[in-house]
Amino acid sequence: MTHVQAGDREAATGADAHVPGEEVLREDAAHAAAALGEAANALEGCTVLISGGAGFLGAAMADVLLHLNRTRFTRPARAVIVDNFVTGVPARVQRMADDPQVTVINADISRDVEIAIPFQYAIHAAGIASPIIYRAKPLQTADVNVWGLRRMLELARAQAELKGFLFFSTSEIYGDPDPAHIPTREDYRGFVSCTGPRACYDESKRFGETLAVVYHQEFGFPIRSVRPFNVYGAGQRIDDGRIIPDLMRAATSNQELVLHSDGRATRSFCYISDATAGFYLAMLRGQPGEAYNIGNAHEVSIRQVADLVSGLSGTPVTFQVSSDPHYLTDNPQRRCPDLSKSRDHLGYAPRMSLEDGMRRTLRWARETVG
Ligand SMILES: NC(=O)c1ccc[n+]([C@@H]2O[C@H](COP(=O)([O-])OP(=O)(O)OC[C@H]3O[C@@H](n4cnc5c(N)ncnc54)[C@H](O)[C@@H]3O)[C@@H](O)[C@H]2O)c1
Repeated sequence: MTHVQAGDREAATGADAHVPGEEVLREDAAHAAAALGEAANALEGCTVLISGGAGFLGAAMADVLLHLNRTRFTRPARAVIVDNFVTGVPARVQRMADDPQVTVINADISRDVEIAIPFQYAIHAAGIASPIIYRAKPLQTADVNVWGLRRMLELARAQAELKGFLFFSTSEIYGDPDPAHIPTREDYRGFVSCTGPRACYDESKRFGETLAVVYHQEFGFPIRSVRPFNVYGAGQRIDDGRIIPDLMRAATSNQELVLHSDGRATRSFCYISDATAGFYLAMLRGQPGEAYNIGNAHEVSIRQVADLVSGLSGTPVTFQVSSDPHYLTDNPQRRCPDLSKSRDHLGYAPRMSLEDGMRRTLRWARETVG
C-alpha cells in the first residue's frame, strides 16, 4: 500500500479553474452543494473516506467537499481517497493535488488496507461499473462489491465517531424489471439472472446491500445504500464503454454515433450534479439501513438520446451489430426509477434537463478530449 499525500505530487495542476474542463466540474460541484442546502453543514470539519474517489461519482463527491471548503466552511472538510486506478483516472485526483485537505491512497480496497486517518463519514464508491469492463474482470468486480465493502465496513466500525456510511449499489439490482414495475420502486425485488454475463456485478451489488442491512442490524450502523440510475455527465471517462461516453467520444471526434442495438431500450439518465446531491442527501438524511433510488424519472429511448446528441453535435446516427455476442444479453429493456421515497425521505428533486445535461457533457468532453 502506498500512501500519497496529494500535496507532494509533482504533476500537480492545483485547483486551477482554467485547467481544461475544470470550470464545468466546479459549476457542477456548486449546483450539487446548492441543492444540498443546510444538509451540507453536517460535513463541516469532518473527514470523509471515499473509496473509488478517482472515479466518476467518487471524485464528484470529493469535489463537493472542496467547493464547500472554498465557499461555506470555516472548519474545512477533508477527503481521504482510496483508489487502485483500475478504472479511475489519475488526472481526476491530480487536480486536487495542491489541496491540503485531500489525501490520496493508491490501494486495492478489496485487500487488507489500513487507514491511519480517523474519519466520520465513509463512502464506498469503488466499483467496476461499465458492463464492457466488468465482464472482462468479473472476479475483481465481485470482490470490490463484497470484500471491498466489507473492508470499508470494518474500517468504519473501528472509528470512534462514525456519523454516516454510504454504499453505492445500483439500479441493476432490479435486473430486467417486469413492465408492471416501471417506474421501479425500492421494494421491487428484481428480475436478475444469478449466472448470466452481468451476474458478477448485479448479484454482488445485491449481496452488498444485504451486508449493509446486516451491519445496520448487528451494529446499529448509520448506513444507507443508493441505487443510481444511469448517471452521466462531465468527469465520466470517455473510454468507459457506457452509452453516453461512447456517444461523446464519437461526437468529439466527428465520427458517426454508432448504436449496437435497435435503440428501443429505454433508460432514465441523470446528470451528475443532481445525482451527487442525491447521494449526499441519502447519506445525511436517509433512514439508516434503507436504500434509495437516485436518478431522473424522465425515461427516454437510446435512439432518442442518440438523436439528441446528434442534434447538438451535427454527427449522424448509424446502427451496427456488436462484435460482442453478449453485448445485449440480460440488457434491461426499460429502466426508470420511482423517486417518491427519495423525494419524501430526502427532499431529493433532480433539476437538470437531458438537453442541458448533454450540452454540459459535450462541452466538458470537447475541452478535455480535444
Ligand atoms: N455511474 C453510474 O451511473 C452508476 C450507476 C449505478 C451504480 N454505480 C456505482 O457507483 C460506483 C461508482 O461508479 P462510477 O460511475 O464512478 O465508476 P468509475 O469506474 O468511474 O469509478 C469507480 C472507481 O473505483 C475504483 N476502484 C475499482 N475497484 C477498486 C478497488 N478494488 N480498490 C480501490 N478502488 C477501486 C476505480 O479505479 C474507479 O476510480 C460504483 O460502485 C458503481 O457500481 C454507478
